[in-house]
Amino acid sequence: MQNLSPANDANCDVADTIGAILSSESYHKKCAEFAGAESKSLLAPSALAFLHETVQVLDARSVLEIGTYFGGGAKVLADAVQGRGMVLTIDSNGARAPYVEAEIATWPQPMRDARCNHVPALQRSRLVRDIPPQKRVLV
Ligand SMILES: C[S@@+](CC[C@H](N)C(=O)[O-])C[C@H]1O[C@@H](n2cnc3c(N)ncnc32)[C@H](O)[C@@H]1O
Repeated sequence: MQNLSPANDANCDVADTIGAILSSESYHKKCAEFAGAESKSLLAPSALAFLHETVQVLDARSVLEIGTYFGGGAKVLADAVQGRGMVLTIDSNGARAPYVEAEIATWPQPMRDARCNHVPALQRSRLVRDIPPQKRVLV
């Protein structure tokens, strides 16, 4: 018997959205673009394309990335959200922060501008507050 509880409906919505993204022309175009581009991300081009498309389809305004590594994924997220919101990326390995800052300095200005207004709200969240400032990078 089908479970029609609200939680199940929400799961269906998520599955429908993911399915629509994966079958969209825009996602496949982005897969090809990311496959042909240099990246500092550990993620596969198809995963980067999925993140980029998801941010845009959902019209996300605040994006939290847990695990910056060298900023490759953050760059894709900042590109997707630029002009509309911000990305906060955090990493438990503070030693990488200077390299990430150097990477961000190479990004086009509109992507570096994907910061702001939403920061105080995010800082109130326990997750972000508990991470020392030197281990956070605001993109
Ligand atoms: C797979 S890499 C992230 C890949 C990255 N998003 C990219 O696009 O290349 C995982 C990162 O998560 C960080 N990490 C691991 N555990 C963490 C934690 N509990 N909180 C924050 N960062 C963490 C690691 O230091 C590492 O840089």
